[in-house]
Amino acid sequence: MLRSLPLLLAFLVLDQLATAQSLCPVIPLPVKASQAAGQFFLDDNTPLIVASPAALPEAQVLQKQLLKFTGIRVAVQPQSSRPAITLKLEKGGDPAAYTLNMSPKGVTVSAASGEGLFYGLASFLQLARKAQGKETGIRVPCWNIQDAPLYRWRGFMLDESRQFFGKAEVKKILDEMAFYKLNRFHWHLTDEPGWRIEIKQYPRLAYVGGIGNHHHRNTPAAYYTQDEIEEIVAYARERHITVVPEIDMPGHATAANRAYPEFSGGGSAKYPEFTFNPGKEETYQYLTNILKEVNVLFPSGMIHIGGDEVSFGSEKWKTDPAVQQLMQKEKLGTLEQVEHYFIKRMADTLIRLNSKVLGWDEVTAASLPAKETIVFWWRHDRPQQLKSAIDKGYKVVLCPRIPFYFDFVQDSSNLVGRRWAGAFAPLEAVYNFSAASLPAGINGKSPLIEGIQANLWTETVQSVDRMYYMTFPRLIALAEAAWTQPDKKDFEQFKARLKDALPLLKQQGIYYMDTPAKTPEPIR
Ligand code: ACM
Repeated sequence: MLRSLPLLLAFLVLDQLATAQSLCPVIPLPVKASQAAGQFFLDDNTPLIVASPAALPEAQVLQKQLLKFTGIRVAVQPQSSRPAITLKLEKGGDPAAYTLNMSPKGVTVSAASGEGLFYGLASFLQLARKAQGKETGIRVPCWNIQDAPLYRWRGFMLDESRQFFGKAEVKKILDEMAFYKLNRFHWHLTDEPGWRIEIKQYPRLAYVGGIGNHHHRNTPAAYYTQDEIEEIVAYARERHITVVPEIDMPGHATAANRAYPEFSGGGSAKYPEFTFNPGKEETYQYLTNILKEVNVLFPSGMIHIGGDEVSFGSEKWKTDPAVQQLMQKEKLGTLEQVEHYFIKRMADTLIRLNSKVLGWDEVTAASLPAKETIVFWWRHDRPQQLKSAIDKGYKVVLCPRIPFYFDFVQDSSNLVGRRWAGAFAPLEAVYNFSAASLPAGINGKSPLIEGIQANLWTETVQSVDRMYYMTFPRLIALAEAAWTQPDKKDFEQFKARLKDALPLLKQQGIYYMDTPAKTPEPIR
């Protein structure tokens, strides 16, 4: 026995080294993570200790999440001699950064703000969920983590104008976003097929504008009441997700125009009744009234006013008397100048409402107040739009179609979904996206780059299963691209860690693309 002791010790040391170097299973991969010895036993008797009173909301969210995802009920206690989870607020530093220290004797999460604590607890929750077995209680492997995000803006956009999914699905998406530390939910609520938000002053927007979707013209009106919006915004806020509503204008206004045709600026043969009328003063008052209600419902101080693809349906402006008069009065030579005049006026409205001005990359050409504006670069084939936005000092969010439009197919064998000259948006491309490889002349390190976002448009999505199939697991790859330092990313290692994340999706009833053969594509 004694003779083999040195050998045993050598094995133990080697084993420690091996675990110290093993890859942290947390997604997105943290800045620094090392495995510590042992496991922390989590069960109904684990005390939750709030060392700083301001951390109580985070403790409560953890309680809810543990109950929902693991069935474990932990209580907040003043102090305890048992191994506990302790939440500590410390002064200073990046509000999103956190430290997670674990040993069999206790777990401590420290951060400078509730947001940082939330992310630390999210890492702990991931370790716990991945370790959960069938018995009561979870032996959570111990890790020591120091972490902070790469980008401030880690977003996902859902188009509920073309297909309405309802609040239960939206909450599920918010849960997944929070689990992977995504923090901006861009809610595309208005477009051609449907208007999805109740506006008290103009009830027909929801009653009439809410009828139909992209796939069926006459489905009963579907929209979110203001109470439901409040509920979802509060749900998101608990999870440190900011909800950004989009009210698209002056184009993509078809649903609104069905409800209040007096504000329509007409359209084109292919896109009838596509625009609001920029020539009528009444239009500005109408839209201002709408935005005032929107602004009250979404306390983020950010409203996205679209501004995209106006030229698809602005043909009628050429002959509309009100628009023609405006062009003469304001000396506007082209329809594009009319567009910019309109966007500038609506931007003024937003600024008076204490809201930032958010728009698709078409708004770059309008002269907007640089400090207040965030431009969403979506036209991957037009990098000059991004360059111009940065040159003008606008903040930018990167959501180029390829690879961040999740209505593009993810595998060459997929039957339905978009492609761009054969190109599409596989998991690997989402994962490997890096601002460092933007086209020449664009500074990928510019502090004006707020972050990245994926957008799910729903022209090719009719069912909840397909919505999830297009979103997952790409959303998880997006989360790592948005959070983790580029030099730490490695797609093969990510795929290995992703394997343990997929069963968690399944647990929540979320359909996802594994390999196309394993999880067949829902084509509607
Ligand atoms: C867009 O895809 N029209 C922003």
